[in-house]
Amino acid sequence: MRLDKLIETELLTSRKEMKQYFARRLVKVDGQVEMNASRNVDSQLHTIQVGTDFLTTNHVYLLLNKPIGAVTAVKDERHTTVTQLIASADQRENLYPVGRLDRDTEGLLLVTDNGQLGYELLLPDKKVEKTYEVWINGLLDTSDVVAFEKGIQFIGGEICKPAELVIVESFAKLSHCYLTIQEGKFHQVKKMFLARGSKVLRLRRTKMGPLTLDEKLPPGGYRPLTGIELKELAHYFK
Ligand code: URA
Repeated sequence: MRLDKLIETELLTSRKEMKQYFARRLVKVDGQVEMNASRNVDSQLHTIQVGTDFLTTNHVYLLLNKPIGAVTAVKDERHTTVTQLIASADQRENLYPVGRLDRDTEGLLLVTDNGQLGYELLLPDKKVEKTYEVWINGLLDTSDVVAFEKGIQFIGGEICKPAELVIVESFAKLSHCYLTIQEGKFHQVKKMFLARGSKVLRLRRTKMGPLTLDEKLPPGGYRPLTGIELKELAHYFK
């Protein structure tokens, strides 16, 4: 949560009073005077102090195994949304998915009510890597590994950043691989394989930044991030 919003809501201050706390150097994060009012903080990671008061946040960070068929949205007229998969005990105002997976894509999706963190994770310059497990309808060989490494050019001309392709097994009509990309273009993985002449048959995200999908989490299941995972995300709390 933004530090200024936290102070206003926890200490019931006006905007002017909140700014005075900063001006009087009374706001400290992890014991250091903090002057950046828009800094993103979480009391699970930081000690947040205003004068003698210690402030706490109450965010949720959930790692969801998105099932095929659910839409990555908060509201939808026709389909189940990923936020509807979250039990009422874990619901929060402003709970939303970080990034987007297609309706027919499954796998790792972070769901949180920390809007600022979600925003930071999606910024292109943060280069948060995402790994997908992919099944396609054609053959893969080292020429594909090289092409992905160089940067795939979409059929429309757009060029992607270098990506890492690891082939698990490959046959004429079915190949299984892992692809790691740094960007989040619309239908990126499907379009990358299309540019190589293949169609994606199944797509599953297994990693995003420091987060990894646990194989034990069933489709539609979710769990809170562990303290270690949250610490690994701390780098994005700007
Ligand atoms: N790339 C795609 O084509 N689809 C997704 O859902 C995610 C990445």
